Amino acid sequence: MTMEREAAGALAVALVGFGTVGQSVARILVGGVEGLRLVRICNRHVARKRVAWVPERVHWTESVDDVLTGDVDVVVELIGGTDPALEWMRRALEAGKSVVTANKQAIAHHGTELFSLARRHGGQLGFEASVAGGVPVIRGIQEGLAADEVVRIQGVLNGTCNFILSEMASSPVAFETVLADAQARGYAEADPSADLDGLDAQAKIAILSAVGFGRRVNPSAIVCRSIRGLESADFEAARTLGCAVRQVSTAERVEHGTGVRAAVGPVLVSLQSRLAQVEGSENVVLVDGARGGQIGFVGLGAGGDPTAVAVVADLLAIARGDGHAATDRFPIDGAPQAVQPMGARPYYLRVSGSTDAAVQLAASGVSTARSLDGANGCVRLVTAALTAAEFEAATGTLAAGPARIAAALPLIDAA
Ligand SMILES: NC(=O)c1ccc[n+]([C@@H]2O[C@H](COP(=O)([O-])OP(=O)(O)OC[C@H]3O[C@@H](n4cnc5c(N)ncnc54)[C@H](OP(=O)(O)O)[C@@H]3O)[C@@H](O)[C@H]2O)c1
Repeated sequence: MTMEREAAGALAVALVGFGTVGQSVARILVGGVEGLRLVRICNRHVARKRVAWVPERVHWTESVDDVLTGDVDVVVELIGGTDPALEWMRRALEAGKSVVTANKQAIAHHGTELFSLARRHGGQLGFEASVAGGVPVIRGIQEGLAADEVVRIQGVLNGTCNFILSEMASSPVAFETVLADAQARGYAEADPSADLDGLDAQAKIAILSAVGFGRRVNPSAIVCRSIRGLESADFEAARTLGCAVRQVSTAERVEHGTGVRAAVGPVLVSLQSRLAQVEGSENVVLVDGARGGQIGFVGLGAGGDPTAVAVVADLLAIARGDGHAATDRFPIDGAPQAVQPMGARPYYLRVSGSTDAAVQLAASGVSTARSLDGANGCVRLVTAALTAAEFEAATGTLAAGPARIAAALPLIDAA
C-alpha cells in the first residue's frame, strides 16, 4: 500500500475471522484500496493463522477487545454462526463502530436488533455478502430498483444444492454418492443439513423479502423442503417434462395488505427458465417489479474471492458515507409480517407402494394432469394445480394406505 493510500482519513478496518472469505478480504486490502486500511486481524490461534504476506504494521490478535478500540472504524465479521459472532457485532455497534458481515443467519434472525443498534449509535451495517456471495443483489435492489415496486423474488441461492442437482441431472448417480463427492471437493460442509434442508436459503430469502418488499418476516416461518431423497428417476421425469430440478427460494408480496408468500425447496422449472440455466455454485436472483418487469442477477454465490468483493464494496460504501442508506432502509419496526404458503401449483409425484395412486388421488378430488411411465415399482404423475392445503389433503389420502410419497416437486412458473 502506498503512503498516499495510507493518508489520514482512510477507514481503519479490523478483520474478525481469517478463514476463506477473511483471507480474500485481507488480500484485497493489503493490495491497496483507496480509502481503506487494514489495521487488525482477529482470529483464534493466531500462531497457526499468521501469514507472511500481511504487512507487519497489521496487528494480529486473539482478543475481540483489541478490535473495539478507538483507532478502529469498521469491524468486518467473518467468523460465521451465531455465537460469538452476534455478541461481537453487538459490542462493535454499541462502541459506535460500523460493521460489515457476510453472516446471513445473524441478519435474517437478528437484523432488527443489529440495525436498531447501528442507527442508535450512528454506525453503518453492511450485509451485501450475506446473500448470493459476490452477486450485488442487495445494492441492486435497494438502489437500482428503488423506484420500482418489487412484487416477486425468485432465486437459486444455494450453490451446494445446485452442484448436487446439476450432477444428478447429468448422470444417473445416487444422491449419497454426489453428496460425498461434493464434500470431498469442499463444495459441501461436513454437516450439510443447512444447505440440503433449506435453512441457508431460508435465511437468504427472508433477507431479500426485507430488502425487496420492506416486509420483514420470521425466517423460521418459511416452509423448507429438503433435496434429500431425490433419485435419478426424478431427474429422468424432469427431462421428460422439459424441466430441470432446482432448489428455488421464492417470496411474493401479498397484495392489498401485509404479509409475504414464501417457500424454499426443490421444484421443477422449465429448461428455458433462467433458474434452470445456472450450473454448479452459481446463484441467480430474479426480481419482478410492477413497473420495470423482471431483472436478473447472476454470478458466483460463494467462494472467498467473489464474497470478498461484496464485503469490500460495503467497506467502500461506508468510506464514502453511503452506508447509512442501506442501514436505514432495513425494516425494523413492528412485529414480523405473516408468511403464507405459495398459491396453487401442479405437483410432480413419485409414489411407491401403490400402483393405483392416480385412482386414489382422483377419489379425493385430485385429477392427474399427466401420467409418466413408472420406475422401479413407483408411480410417477403430475397432478392438476393444488393449493398447499389441497396438497396436504391429497398426500394424507395416499398415506392412509400402503402408498408412500417418495418425491413431491411443485412445477413452478418462472421466466
Ligand atoms: N465461504 C463462502 O463461500 C461464503 C460465501 C458467502 C458467505 N459466507 C459467509 O462468510 C462468513 C465466513 O465464512 P468462511 O467460509 O470464510 O468461514 P471459515 O473459512 O470457516 O472461516 C471462519 C474463520 O473464523 C475463525 N473463527 C471461527 N470461530 C471463531 C471464534 N470463536 N473466535 C475466533 N475466530 C473464530 C475460524 O478460525 P479457525 O481457522 O480456527 O477455524 C476461521 O479462520 C460466514 O458467515 C459465511 O456464511 C461464506
